[in-house]
Amino acid sequence: ATGLLGDALGRPLRDLRISVTDRCNFRCSYCMPKDVFDKDYPYLPHSALLSFEEITRVACQFVAHGVQKIRLTGGEPLLRKNIEVLIEQLAALRTVEGRPLDITLTTNGSLLERKAASLKAAGLQRVTVSLDGLDDAIFRAMNDVDFPVADVLRGIDAAQAAGLGPIKVNMVVKRGTNHHQILPMARHFKGTGIVLRFIEYMDVGATNGWRMDEVLPSADVVRLIQSELPLVQLDPSAPGETAERWGYADANGQHDVQAGEIGVISSVTQAFCQDCNRARLSTEGKLYLCLFASQGHDLRPLVRGNASDEELASAIAAIWQGRSDRYSELRASLPPDASTGTRRVEMSYIGG
Ligand code: GTP
Ligand code: 5AD
Ligand code: SF4
Ligand code: SF4
Repeated sequence: ATGLLGDALGRPLRDLRISVTDRCNFRCSYCMPKDVFDKDYPYLPHSALLSFEEITRVACQFVAHGVQKIRLTGGEPLLRKNIEVLIEQLAALRTVEGRPLDITLTTNGSLLERKAASLKAAGLQRVTVSLDGLDDAIFRAMNDVDFPVADVLRGIDAAQAAGLGPIKVNMVVKRGTNHHQILPMARHFKGTGIVLRFIEYMDVGATNGWRMDEVLPSADVVRLIQSELPLVQLDPSAPGETAERWGYADANGQHDVQAGEIGVISSVTQAFCQDCNRARLSTEGKLYLCLFASQGHDLRPLVRGNASDEELASAIAAIWQGRSDRYSELRASLPPDASTGTRRVEMSYIGG
């Protein structure tokens, strides 16, 4: 399994996102609304989860097909016990060109202060931290477990001190809920070396009650920031990147590298499926070809059965070659809100 794969639309496989738990200690309304994710919610039993050895074995076959970047997600990945052990195993893998992988993790930051140093020591390169505002009341309401902003900020500081950078901060923007936090967040992170990215609220999953009128288009976010802090558009740093990059401008309208950059992720108003090179592996070993897929391809029977590595690799190849998913592009041609009611997998299960 060496030749590089293309899917049915010619897109390569570069990025593997692995969900290591479907649980989270937050209840963000756009992701795990409390009334659905209550104490009776059927989370996966422990026996269903891929073990670290199983994850690493699967990841190794993805890497043989050209994957360069692995992102650990959840749920909240730092809730998975001994996650450092998995990171150590993944850090030992090499790309087809023989280079180390880019290994990163998306976290809500609640456990980061405690874990930053051990994550770094295990071989994690960087982290992306979710933070939806600096106003404590707004943030506590959005995470819906009354978790304070200050603790997340201490987690970010600890990650920076541990050398887990460049750090990115993701803010999901919901019009009417936290859009007044856009400028305070931009001011706060400008010049810190941290890349703040604004994500359009998406209709992912089937439980968050998504409505188009709660989406604030990224163009509006950029315009708002521009009105106070001038920006210049930057070139993409990698093909198929989710974020459009904007740098803070100096007095001459050039990018002020010290001041840094922001990003906007516009899955709703400007789909980026065209070069989407991301595969998602669920906690129980199902391969999803799109964030908005309703079904995955179960790899666990192969992993737990006595399939050889070659059989596993060719199963992955066949699935990827059949891929034609481009949900966000298709949604753009539907009338607003037409997508509600379809049964899609939850983001807490599949990973961001
Ligand atoms: P880096 O820039 O390398 O850190 O990776 P990334 O851009 O993939 O970062 P990250 O995982 O932080 O993704 C940011 C957010 O973009 C995710 O949390 C999702 O909300 C969204 N996102 C990521 N991948 C996709 C995708 O394939 N489709 C859609 N629609 N949204 C995505
Ligand atoms: N729309 C946009 N982003 C979302 N995230 C979770 N649910 C949604 C949604 N409905 C974000 C989180 C985190 C990342 C994993 O995905 O805030 O930054
Ligand atoms: Fe948890 Fe992240 Fe989902 Fe919020 S967005 S509930 S922190 S997994
Ligand atoms: Fe990729 Fe699906 Fe997102 Fe499009 S909607 S960028 S195909 S994950």
